[in-house]
Amino acid sequence: MLGMMIAGETFASSRSVVEKPIVVILMGPPGAGKGTHAKPLGEQLGIPHISTGDLFRENIQNQTSLGQTAKSYINAGRLVPDAVVLDMLFARIDQPDCNQGYILDGFPRTVAQAEALDPRLKNSRVIAVNLNVPDPLLVERITGRLACKECGKLYHKKYSAPASQGQCDLCQGTLFQRDDDKEEILKKRLEVYRAQTEPLIEYYGKKDVLREINAADSPDSVFHLVLDQIAEPVARG
Ligand code: AP5
Repeated sequence: MLGMMIAGETFASSRSVVEKPIVVILMGPPGAGKGTHAKPLGEQLGIPHISTGDLFRENIQNQTSLGQTAKSYINAGRLVPDAVVLDMLFARIDQPDCNQGYILDGFPRTVAQAEALDPRLKNSRVIAVNLNVPDPLLVERITGRLACKECGKLYHKKYSAPASQGQCDLCQGTLFQRDDDKEEILKKRLEVYRAQTEPLIEYYGKKDVLREINAADSPDSVFHLVLDQIAEPVARG
């Protein structure tokens, strides 16, 4: 397990022997930075990062029947039906690498999904981190986003451009823009977020596990805010 420094201790050493698994739910609208922070956070905590959006995109790329179902919803800016998402997500979190916990990125996205997840969180320490970003900045972030086809690393045309245009700095893979990142589809995604996903802020607020973060600053400073918010619950074990 990698060593996150919490009050002078590594993450691993700061947790007690009878520690509960930790589940971090990264929340926020499209472009808030969930994917940007989930991966390094998983590396810091030594637990897997699970993105339902990435799982769907893998299925689309591999032309599975699940991918075919998901594609029509994703490219219309709508949510994939709960039943499809839940089967896929539960199969993933039942894998042994999730025994110590996991980071959820893009799940849950409806109150029904959150209610279905709840029984599986009974013996876990849950932290729901909500990334707040004003709408105009979300549009700028999404329409400028690029991702590597090979390794998935994220870039932004303005904020974190690759050294060579169209090529990943890490693996030299080709960079691409997601089909659902076009401005007209993004508009629909934001509407869907407000109607179906935003109610989860109240849902986790009532459970007293919600941490609100201003995620409008640079990626580095937002990442440190995220770490600050989870350090204390992680250390409590
Ligand atoms: P998904 O892939 O989860 O998309 P999303 O939630 O809309 O989120 P994004 O990936 O667009 O944004 P992000 O917050 O991860 O931002 P990022 O870090 O990339 O889902 C896609 C679709 O799949 C959904 O629309 C739906 O159809 C379906 N789906 C997925 N899960 C589902 C579920 N549970 N139920 C039903 N359907 C589901 O950052 C964006 C850009 O900004 C990047 O270029 C990045 O470099 C840049 N950036 C990030 N932070 C900063 C910063 N602080 N400063 C400057 N630039 C920044």
